Amino acid sequence: MAQVACGIDIGGSGVKSALVDLETGEFVGERIRIETPKPATPDAVAEVCRQLLERLEVGPETPVGIAFPAPVIHGVVPFIANLDPSWAGINVNELMERHLGRRVVPLNDADAAGIAEVAYGAAKGVDGLVILTTQGTGIGSAVIMNGVLVPNTELGHLEIDGYDAEKRASSGQKTLQDLSWKKWAKRLQRYYSHVEMLFSPDLFVVGGGVSKNHEKFMPLLDLKTPMVPAKLFNTAGIVGAASFAAQQADSAEG
Ligand code: BGC
Repeated sequence: MAQVACGIDIGGSGVKSALVDLETGEFVGERIRIETPKPATPDAVAEVCRQLLERLEVGPETPVGIAFPAPVIHGVVPFIANLDPSWAGINVNELMERHLGRRVVPLNDADAAGIAEVAYGAAKGVDGLVILTTQGTGIGSAVIMNGVLVPNTELGHLEIDGYDAEKRASSGQKTLQDLSWKKWAKRLQRYYSHVEMLFSPDLFVVGGGVSKNHEKFMPLLDLKTPMVPAKLFNTAGIVGAASFAAQQADSAEG
């Protein structure tokens, strides 16, 4: 497998990229961030990805993975909740090949975080069912059974009490509505106990920036399932995308 791969993480406010040492899961050199263009149309975002690869001097042989805040089904984004709606129906393989002049490997951002946590973080060596949720503007999910990802789950969009779950329980809503930790934890309780009832997981991993403050909300939750913060805080999307791209390059060769 390649020793180094490149990951790009497309978010609502920034598009971030770095080269990743696949042995350790750490960045090689600096991480570059470019503001997400407004509007964040497919062409505008693809152009930012081109600039990132250029600035990082990513060679044609280096695998590149791109994490999207949306499901990616056989290269196609079926819908997108938190970026420009014109992404719906876009084949990201074709889009990126047109702009970057090379193949890349697209995947969902929470799936990328899940892959990174399995390889280097909180889900490493964990048997059974792990559900990782990423907290941010939306709630992303990665469902992992004995280290193997079930891709493109969208547990942030479960409908609970008549609401799209992420519109109540995401950390983005905590910020937007200026909720106290206690008030937000009530919403988390409703959300995670529902997911627990549906899936009976062995472990919850919570990622996203807010997981740095896990001691502020995790002790307020009453769940049967153990819950731990992600280990790779804000690098998981990039690291997971890079790692996935390297795995895909390997299976294409072998
Ligand atoms: C999207 C998911 C994504 C999550 C985090 C949700 O709104 O539907 O695909 O993983 O946000 O970005």
